[in-house]
Amino acid sequence: MTLLLLAGTSDARRLAQGLADRGVPTLASLAGATREPVALPVPTRRGGFGGVQGFQDVLAAEGIGAVIDATHPFAARITTRTHDICATLGLPHLRLERPGWQAGPGDHWTFAADEEEAKALIPEGSVVFLATGRQSLPAWEGLRAASVHLRVIDPPDAPFTFPGGFVVARPPFDIRAEVETFARFGVTHLVVKDSGAADGRAKLDAARELGISVIVLRRPPRPDGLRTVGTVAEALAWVEELPFRSALASLPG
Ligand SMILES: NC(=O)c1ccc[n+]([C@@H]2O[C@H](COP(=O)([O-])OP(=O)(O)OC[C@H]3O[C@@H](n4cnc5c(N)ncnc54)[C@H](OP(=O)(O)O)[C@@H]3O)[C@@H](O)[C@H]2O)c1
Repeated sequence: MTLLLLAGTSDARRLAQGLADRGVPTLASLAGATREPVALPVPTRRGGFGGVQGFQDVLAAEGIGAVIDATHPFAARITTRTHDICATLGLPHLRLERPGWQAGPGDHWTFAADEEEAKALIPEGSVVFLATGRQSLPAWEGLRAASVHLRVIDPPDAPFTFPGGFVVARPPFDIRAEVETFARFGVTHLVVKDSGAADGRAKLDAARELGISVIVLRRPPRPDGLRTVGTVAEALAWVEELPFRSALASLPG
């Protein structure tokens, strides 16, 4: 039996390492959104499954006995679909999703349900830094600002439709680098997704230091009954308890 790990986050990477260290037969899956992802320490497939049937075909062909969904907190479709399929098949399934960020003293955060709500919170004349990912660009259409800077990992093919431009850079970023970036552009408003990632926190700390207003996009809703843990350690503990644990190679007792 093999564990299917839906990856694409730093937590998935850490979990993959923990599974490899324990000798748990694991197949990781990446959507293929990042052109040159850092290799994972377990066998990895890349690209979408091709919908419900494609996902079920992979489950059968690879002898998948359990699924851990460690995709990004904003990856809404894959998480709901995986939950529904695993529930139907009676396949053990766990969602690894770290807790969201908490504002502290000195933070100026406003939460928004989506990009439409966020746009209404950004005054004309603002200098906006979008840390919302390449795929979010179309959703910002209609944003009125003096300039807009969208950070991306890969240089995009798409034209940039605002004054400003893409900022091509690969995470993680530390607070000094973030302060330097925001100061260079004169950022007044930072937009982030509530991803909760520890290594994404630096931009929020930099915004606090510079007095920048932050708009935090809320996470998408999750299906009822989705079994969720917030840490890699909890996910590894769940694997230890799997019914077919004895079929998995050399888990430490
Ligand atoms: N959304 C974000 O802000 C964000 C940020 C960082 C990383 N990511 C990562 O990028 C991937 C895509 O994000 P998204 O927002 O487009 O997700 P999504 O809307 O939930 O998924 C879109 C489609 O991408 C494919 N897919 C997603 N995750 C996959 C995986 N781990 N392995 C194989 N196929 C996968 C599936 O295609 P098929 O229907 O063809 O199976 C899915 O229907 C996710 O793996 C996520 O962890 C997303």
